[in-house]
Amino acid sequence: MDKFIIHGGRKLKGKVKVSGAKNAALPIMVASLLVDGKVTLRNVPDLRDIASIGEILRVLGMRVERTGATTVELENVDEKRVEAPYELVSTLRASVCTLGPLLAKRGRARVSMPGGCVIGVRPIDLHLKGLRALGARIEIKHGYIEARARRLKGTEIYLGGPYGSSVLGTANVMMAASLAEGETVIENAACEPEIQDLAHFLNRCGARIEGIGRPILVIRGVRKLHGADYRVIPDRIEAGTFLIAGAITRSRITVTNVRARHLAAFLDKMRSCGVEFARKGNSIEVIPPRRPNAVDLITLPYPGYPTDLQAQITAYLACAKGISLITEKIYPDRFMHVAELGRMGANIRKEGSSAIVRGVERLSGAPVMASDLRASAALVLAGLVAQGTTEVGRVYHIDRGYEKIEEKLNALGAKIERVWEKYPVRDAPQ
Ligand code: EPZ
Repeated sequence: MDKFIIHGGRKLKGKVKVSGAKNAALPIMVASLLVDGKVTLRNVPDLRDIASIGEILRVLGMRVERTGATTVELENVDEKRVEAPYELVSTLRASVCTLGPLLAKRGRARVSMPGGCVIGVRPIDLHLKGLRALGARIEIKHGYIEARARRLKGTEIYLGGPYGSSVLGTANVMMAASLAEGETVIENAACEPEIQDLAHFLNRCGARIEGIGRPILVIRGVRKLHGADYRVIPDRIEAGTFLIAGAITRSRITVTNVRARHLAAFLDKMRSCGVEFARKGNSIEVIPPRRPNAVDLITLPYPGYPTDLQAQITAYLACAKGISLITEKIYPDRFMHVAELGRMGANIRKEGSSAIVRGVERLSGAPVMASDLRASAALVLAGLVAQGTTEVGRVYHIDRGYEKIEEKLNALGAKIERVWEKYPVRDAPQ
């Protein structure tokens, strides 16, 4: 198991290029189950999660090949395979999205229930509600979702849940509806750029989806979808993480291959912290203040402030001038980073689904533990600015969603060593 040793207090400089979006590439790879013909995807990041979904799709009878540094080819080979096993699905929640395409294309699916994770229970009731509305017969047996459907039929579906729209719920139902008979209307659909990218990919394959980027999607089912050559959008969460890396180290770095429009809420909040941005084409230069202003923040579905950038900005606000209130409206328990930041001298108190962050002058390096993808990124950011050395254990969490993060940060002037952790720290005693 690897860990990072981060030598804090170093200024960064130069440019860093953002990779392709993990959360667009994942559902788009799954959508290839719907296609007759070859799919070539470009700008696909080389990440653990991408390798995992590739493994699951191979088990489901697809040829999945990385034919270049960021190019992946996919093709259906054996459509009799309809089971996604627990040992693979439990490693990657996004695999629940195979349900819709398997039902629509092959008429059957047996997919293990995805587990929860440290950020929350992660239910899939909205996925099942949408697929049942399209006519699927679904039972949960022995931890597996057993689903059948002759031909799905279009209908009107309200897909909002207690926390608003569902990203992968919208993906699952939209993919299934693409091959259903007739028209499907999804109300309270997710508008995230990654879902927009999935819809554009499906239309490139011959689907007929309208309302992309708006909360009401209209999908007219077609009989078949053909192969396509498609480029995945840049990863807005990785971009935001690097912009915070510049701000937290008070460095004027430039992040390239960014779509600023996908980060409007984030950039607006960072401006409230006192950060300025110089935009040039698809690059953004960070112009940071000496110390951020404290701000209040609420995470919301897109176009609101993204929950996937909550832990990272919390690390930044740990040294703000004043007290910030951060409220999680998507995953109320998504504060695993709070205790670890506390070990580094941050003064943060969790109150229900909020965190009260009292800004301190500086953080000090300490051994900390990664727990989930974005909390781990927050600890790396804190380590960049903390006095002394920070050790971040279990960096496999980071490798799930950030392509070579230590190489990219070291190229900017950071000093991060990846070392093998002979005796990994066990989970805290219960
Ligand atoms: C996607 O997860 C992302 N993952 C998550 O990113 C991201 O945090 C999340 O959307 C919210 O933006 C991928 O795209 C692979 P949701 P998803 O369904 O689709 C509740 C990362 O760090 N809900 O939009 O699983 C749910 O509990 C990951 O890259 C239901 O109640 O999230 C949550 O509170 C972490 N019933 C809220 O909705 C359901 O059937 C939003 O969840 C589904 C969800």
